[in-house]
Amino acid sequence: MIALVAAASVRAQAPVGPTPAESEDSRRARAAELRAIYWKSSGEWPAPWVDEGVDWRELGRLPAAPAPADNPTTPEKVELGKKLFFDPRLSGSGQLSCASCHDPDLGWADGRTTAFGHRREPLRRNSPTIMNLAHMPAIFWDGRAGSLEDQAREVILNPSEMSATPDSVVRELSAVPEYRDSFRAVFGSEDVDLDMIAKAVAAFERSIVGGRSAFDKFLGGDRDAMSDEAILGLDLFRRKARCMNCHHGPAFSDGQFHDLGLSYYGRELEDLGRYRVTALPEDVGRFRTPGLRNVAATGPYMHNGLFELTGVLNMYNAGMATLKRKPEQADDPLFPTKSPHLKPLGLDKRELADLKAFLESLTEPKRRVRAPALPGLTAHPAPTPTDPAPEGRIR
Ligand code: HEC
Ligand code: HEC
Repeated sequence: MIALVAAASVRAQAPVGPTPAESEDSRRARAAELRAIYWKSSGEWPAPWVDEGVDWRELGRLPAAPAPADNPTTPEKVELGKKLFFDPRLSGSGQLSCASCHDPDLGWADGRTTAFGHRREPLRRNSPTIMNLAHMPAIFWDGRAGSLEDQAREVILNPSEMSATPDSVVRELSAVPEYRDSFRAVFGSEDVDLDMIAKAVAAFERSIVGGRSAFDKFLGGDRDAMSDEAILGLDLFRRKARCMNCHHGPAFSDGQFHDLGLSYYGRELEDLGRYRVTALPEDVGRFRTPGLRNVAATGPYMHNGLFELTGVLNMYNAGMATLKRKPEQADDPLFPTKSPHLKPLGLDKRELADLKAFLESLTEPKRRVRAPALPGLTAHPAPTPTDPAPEGRIR
C-alpha cells in the first residue's frame, strides 16, 4: 500500500512558499530554456518530483488503442457500436441513449454537475468522458467495471441509468432487419444478445481516442505548438506541482485509486468511492485517477462534478482539504485518510495560470461528430415551404 507509507521525497525539492516576483524577461528566458529541455526525447527530461515507491511512467503520445483478445476491433463493429451508442432503444424508456450523457460536442461528457437518468432521477456522480478509455485498466469513478464490455452491460441494465432489461433491448433491436444484418455481418449470428451489443459498443468507445493536442504536436516535432505558458506549466506539472505522483503515462493516469479528501464522509453528499467495491477500510473515499487529456473540454470536474478547473487547481495548491474527525468518529475505522501525496504546493498566481495553460494544451481540436442515421427509425420528413402548416402547429 504505497499510499499509506509516509511520503518521503526521492529527491531534494525546492522549498515551497511564495516565489518572488519574476520579471517578464527572465520568465521568457526560463521558458526558452525549458522548451529546449523538453524538446529533447523524454528519456532526457528532468526526473519528475514523485514520492518514494511511486511506479511512474513518463508522459507521452498515446500508443495504438489495445483491444481484448475476445473482442478485436473491426471497422464494421465500430460502425455498429456507434449506431448503438446513439440509439435510445438501448434504454427502457426509449428516451436515453449513451450519447445523452456522453455527448461528442461536450468532450463526450455532458457538461452537467450530475446527469438525470431514467425518469429524470438525478445521478450521484458526474458523467465522465468516454475518450481514451481503451488505455484505462479500471472503468468508472470507483473502478467497479474491469472492461468497457462489462461497463456497457451494467449501464444498460442499471435501473437508474438506461433501465432496460436484456429481453427488452434484444427485442427492440432484433425487430430491425438492418440491425439483424449488421449483427450477422459482425458476429456471424443475427440472434442478437446483450453480449454482442456490449462488445460492439465497447469497440466503438475504443475508437474514441485523442492524440492531436498541442502537446502531442510538440512531442511530434512542432517546436512552437505549445505557448511559453504551457511549457512552463508542463514543467510545473512534472515537478513542483507534483501531479506526476498520480497523473502519469500517456493517458495521464496511474489507473490507481486515491482519496483527495472529497468523500464528504458522514455528510449529505457522502460517496465512499472504491470502498463500495472492495469493502476495504483503506479504500474509503478513494476514486480512480482520471486521465487528463482533453480535460479543459470535459468540465465540471471530480466524481461529484462540483468544481471548475481553476477551483481544482486552487485546491491542489492548498494540498486539498483535510477532514477533521468529529468526537464521535474518534475510533471510526472507516474514517477516510487523504492521500499522503497531497501537500501544499506554494504555487503563485502565475504558476497556477501556467499549469492551467498546460492542461489546456491537452485539448483536442474540435471534431464534429454527426449522429448516425438509426436503422428502423425514419426521421419525420421536414415540411416543405409549400405544405400547409397543420392546424395548431407552429412551423
Ligand atoms: C443518464 C446519463 C448516462 C447515460 C444515459 C449513460 N451514461 Fe455512462 N456514465 C454516466 C455516469 C454518471 C458515469 C459515472 C458513474 C460512476 O462512475 O459511478 C458514467 C460512466 C461511464 C463510463 C466509465 C467512464 C470512466 O471514466 O471510467 C463509460 C465507459 C460509460 N459511462 C459509457 C456509457 C455507455 C456505453 C452508455 C450507453 C449504453 C452510457 N454510458 C450511458 C452517465 C450516463
Ligand atoms: C494523489 C494522487 C493525485 C495527485 C497528486 C493529483 N491528482 Fe488529480 N486526480 C486524482 C484523483 C483520484 C482524481 C479524482 C478524484 C475525485 O473525483 O474524487 C483527480 C482529479 C483531477 C482532475 C479532475 C478531472 C475530471 O475529469 O474530473 C484534474 C483536472 C486533476 N486531477 C488535475 C491534477 C493536477 C493538475 C495535479 C497536480 C497539481 C493533480 N491532479 C494531482 C489524483 C491525483
